[in-house]
Formats: sequence, C-alpha cells, structure tokens
Amino acid sequence: MKELSYIDYLFERENLDDSKLGELIESNNPKVLEYLYGKSLEKKIKYYDKSIYMRGLLEFTNICKLNCKYCGLRWDNKNVDRYRLTEEQILDCCSTGYQLGYRTFVLQGGEDSYYTDDKLVKLITNIKSNYPAAAITLSIGEKAYESYKKYFNAGADRFLLRHETADKDLYNSLHPGSSYENRVRCLKDLKEIGYQIGAGFMTGLPGQTTKHLVKDLRFLKNLDPHMIGIGPFIPHSETPLANFSGGTVELTLKMVALTRLMIPKALLPSTTALGTIDSLGREKAIRAGANVVMPNLSPTNVREKYEIYENKICTGDEAAHCRQCIEKRINSTGSYVDMGRGDYVDWRTNNVY
Ligand code: 5AD
Ligand code: SF4
Ligand code: FES
Repeated sequence: MKELSYIDYLFERENLDDSKLGELIESNNPKVLEYLYGKSLEKKIKYYDKSIYMRGLLEFTNICKLNCKYCGLRWDNKNVDRYRLTEEQILDCCSTGYQLGYRTFVLQGGEDSYYTDDKLVKLITNIKSNYPAAAITLSIGEKAYESYKKYFNAGADRFLLRHETADKDLYNSLHPGSSYENRVRCLKDLKEIGYQIGAGFMTGLPGQTTKHLVKDLRFLKNLDPHMIGIGPFIPHSETPLANFSGGTVELTLKMVALTRLMIPKALLPSTTALGTIDSLGREKAIRAGANVVMPNLSPTNVREKYEIYENKICTGDEAAHCRQCIEKRINSTGSYVDMGRGDYVDWRTNNVY
C-alpha cells in the first residue's frame, strides 16, 4: 500500500511532499492509521522514552478583550461569569500543585488588560522565588517584544501561543481585530528571546480543508517550536460558530501523529479537548505519540467558568483526584508519569539556546 511507504519515508526523513501529506490526512484505512500511530509512538519513545510529562494548569483569569469566533470566553459573550484569581489564590494553587509533585506551572488566561506587565512580573517573580525548581509557562496571548522580554527576565521559561491555523485568510476570518502577521511576529519574538515556545492548531475548524492542515504541518516544520498543542474545535453555543460541526477524534489523532513524525522532538500535549469529545481521547493521543498532559490546578469553584468550549472534563474534580486519575490512564497505555520539569529534549536549563 503506497500510504505505508509514505509513512516509512516520513519516519526516516522527517519530511514528506505536501500532496502525500494530504493523502495521509485523508486516509481512513484502519491499517494505515494503525501503522501511522505505531510509527509516531516509536519516534516519541526514541526521544522521550515512555515518559509522559505533567503540567499543572492555572486558569487565572477568564476575562478577555478579544472576540475569537470559536471561543466561549470571547468578549461579546455576556453570559460568562467573569473572574480573576488573586495572587494569593494563584500561589495557593501552586503550593497544592507542588505538593502533588508538579514542576511546571502553566499560567493561562484571556487577554485581560488588568494584568499589566508590572503585575505579571511581580507574579512571576513571586512564584519563581517560592518554587525555583519549577518551570513557569505563560499562555496569555499577544504582547509586545519588550513585554515578553520582561516576563522572561522575571523567570518565565516557556510560552504557549497556538497559531490556531497557518492559513492567513482562515486565521483572519476567525479573529476579528487581530492579524495573522502579528501572531507569527509574537511566536518569532518569543523564540528569539529564549523561551521554549509552543504553537499549535485546532482540527475541524469551519472552512478548514486538507490543504489548510498541510499548511499547518509546513508552518510548524519551519518554525520548529518546542511544544505543539493540537485539539479538536468544539462548537460553543454562545459563539458565532455554534451551528458548525467540530473536529473529530480521528482527524486530531492523525494530525498529532503526523506532527510527531515531521517535528519529532516536539512536546505534544494530549489535550483536554480531545478528552472532552471522547472519554478515552487522551489515552488514544498518548498511544499516537503525544507526551504531555496538563491537569487543572485551578480552584474547583472557578473551573466551570473557564468555558472556552462546553462540557469540559474535570471541572468538578480536585487537583489531587486528577493527579491520580491521569496517572492510571497513562499507565493503561504502557507509558508512565514523569513529574520532572519536562523540558524539550535538547534543552539545557539556563543556556541560551
Ligand atoms: N474548541 C476547542 N478549542 C478551543 N480553543 C478556544 N476555543 C476553543 C473551542 N471552542 C483553543 C484555542 C486556544 C486554546 C487555549 O484553546 O486553540 O488557543
Ligand atoms: Fe480570548 Fe483566548 Fe478565547 Fe481568543 S481563545 S477569545 S484570546 S480566551
Ligand atoms: Fe481529571 Fe480524570 S483527569 S478526573
């Protein structure tokens, strides 16, 4: 079968023509998919062994001035109970997380102007001085070069900023008031400053075609980020995209596996969105080459309010419960939990890379 030879080529050369990538994306042959996931897992094991890294997620503000058409937290959605955690609450969550063994804290929030650079620098400095052994990952959107530099100098190690889609027209149609060029500018600035950077995209976006997905792979191959988040688009009823269909498990797994084969050293999360559309979605992604999970450390009373999409899993579960639950799930796939910082494979902490 020609698809199997494409996968072998991709495994060896870590690259493949656009048209052949397109054929693999469109294949629904179970033999092809099984082979694809197996080769992806083999590649992941080569660089990261059977370990899966854990990140503690802190959703510290659901206030967002932007209007991304797919997102439930968009400004125009007035049916959101908006919140901000205080610095004390954030530090409490870090303390709980640290005791559970987490050595990465991911500070994720909407684009909330209340958090000025000075406030963020103070927060980062404070977390870092309490937990010098932990890595800090920011996921707070588009900023100026100088702002990114200030957070980095204060001790932030990594930054997640999904590119969402590498097709300029599709990007601009989904992000009123924002531009694809600025998104890419941010990712390049972050990399230059010295962060481990995370890009990524959604599958099944309205209007997304195979060509767009091939563009995502090509974009990622060129950018060469350290982390790549891939999850299905899940329509939210309070957004302009409420009546569209979402991404499927199969398409998402294919994209995770192809990404592992194209950008083999990348840290690839098994996303909560995938766990939301399929109760075994996260296990499937781990078997298809993902190597990171991001359980939630936010206080349970705000979890439901961080509703980028509906029916999100784990909203009622304490951090300690998720910690145990996810470990069992990881073990069921034949992998194991690694509670270390989980840096990119070639990363040497404190070295400019
Ligand atoms: N469905 C799936 N993923 C979503 N995101 C935002 N809204 C949705 C949705 N409705 C993703 C975006 C964003 C990340 C934090 O969550 O990719 O970058
Ligand atoms: Fe805001 Fe992020 Fe949602 Fe866009 S995806 S509306 S930036 S919270
Ligand atoms: Fe949260 Fe399973 S990971 S309940």
